[in-house]
Amino acid sequence: MELHVADHPLIAHKVTVLRDKNTDSPTFRRLVEELVTLLAYEATRDVRVEQVEVTTPVATTTGTHIADPRPIVVPILRAGLGMLDGMVKLLPTAEVGFLGMLRDETTLEAVTYANRLPNDMRGRQCFLIDPMLATGGTLIMAIEYLLELGARDVTAVCLLAAPEGIEAVREAIEGTGASVKIVVAAVDERLNEKGYIVPGLGDAGDRLYGVV
Ligand code: URA
Repeated sequence: MELHVADHPLIAHKVTVLRDKNTDSPTFRRLVEELVTLLAYEATRDVRVEQVEVTTPVATTTGTHIADPRPIVVPILRAGLGMLDGMVKLLPTAEVGFLGMLRDETTLEAVTYANRLPNDMRGRQCFLIDPMLATGGTLIMAIEYLLELGARDVTAVCLLAAPEGIEAVREAIEGTGASVKIVVAAVDERLNEKGYIVPGLGDAGDRLYGVV
């Protein structure tokens, strides 16, 4: 598994404002979108491309297009939805699938409650988006599901990660032979006893959408 921690002053600035408990929901949403667009730039560095011929007003030359089959972006509902616009801004031709997962707050285990994905993911590059990689339970379940559907190339784009979650994902995908990459804006200190990332930014879904 490859871990890429984005190292850029604009990313660090936006993460700091997101962490601030006084940042209101409209600002939080806007910053998540901006941050994801910056992370998407890193996450798509290995997106598959093909060479095409293009005719400019002056001459014909060889250029690059994103290859078929198109990549698929999969937000994990609900908080991952807040990252979707930023992601498809950079990948407008991508398809979008959905996975609804939530954490049982007592066992901290992930439960799937909605799923809208192609049945055959062979040959597809998948971009899973979920803001908080905490215990890793949700992300592992999502990655394992994509691998079951035939995917072999999965990049998870997250805002914050805990070292425990990164290790859990690493262990879970070991030996699968799949290419799994995590792109994250920052790796924090640890998880607390409630499974929250410390210092983190609180509950990303609540800060995006309110407590519902
Ligand atoms: N999910 C969140 O939204 N925040 C955390 O800190 C951990 C999981």
